[in-house]
Amino acid sequence: MDDIKIISLDAKADYKRVADLMHRASDYVAMETGKAHNPGFVHSALTDAPPHCGPDDIFLRGLERADGTLAGFAGSIRHYPKQGHWYMGLLILDPDARGDGLGRQTAQHVIDEARADNAPCIRIAVLDVNKDARAFWDKMGFEHERTVKADPKGDGHKRHILKLELTT
Ligand SMILES: CC(C)(COP(=O)(O)OP(=O)(O)OC[C@H]1O[C@@H](n2cnc3c(N)ncnc32)[C@H](O)[C@@H]1OP(=O)(O)O)[C@@H](O)C(=O)NCCC(=O)NCCS
Repeated sequence: MDDIKIISLDAKADYKRVADLMHRASDYVAMETGKAHNPGFVHSALTDAPPHCGPDDIFLRGLERADGTLAGFAGSIRHYPKQGHWYMGLLILDPDARGDGLGRQTAQHVIDEARADNAPCIRIAVLDVNKDARAFWDKMGFEHERTVKADPKGDGHKRHILKLELTT
């Protein structure tokens, strides 16, 4: 982590850097979308938010290496699913950067941001097939809130909504 900084990203200006990261982390992109190379997934990760969320409610964070490449990305929104609540839409690391505490540090950074914003809780959705990530979120203290059935018209994934209370 010494040579990696957590920075704010801009959806337009940093698109190429995020796309490059997603290319390296294509194992996850393929798991979620069925396609290893998926520009639509990159675009969604940078911009997807419900209509009631303004630009100030989207928080894009990157793990920047000294050479300017990204070792990871965390995208979150505020006021979803309820006013004031935070939702981390995606946390993804370069495979080379996994398993060394960086995921924990990045998730904790976002959790601290949500707490500083007086959010009562933060949620994530984990794919049922993504057992490794489920173990990670369990370690981070998130608890199962509900399960969303696979939508045959959607991407076909069952998802678990996990929640971390921030008021205690
Ligand atoms: C999930 C991800 C962000 C975790 O980041 P990471 O840097 O690999 O995880 P860390 O090294 O910070 O691990 C944090 C803790 O979780 C535990 N953990 C991580 N992966 C685990 C696994 N597969 N099984 C059991 N425990 C695991 C670690 O042992 C560690 O525990 P500790 O702090 O008590 O020692 C990262 O692996 C990743 O980008 N995966 C691909 C994308 C993805 O699945 N994103 C999540 C979408 S919901």
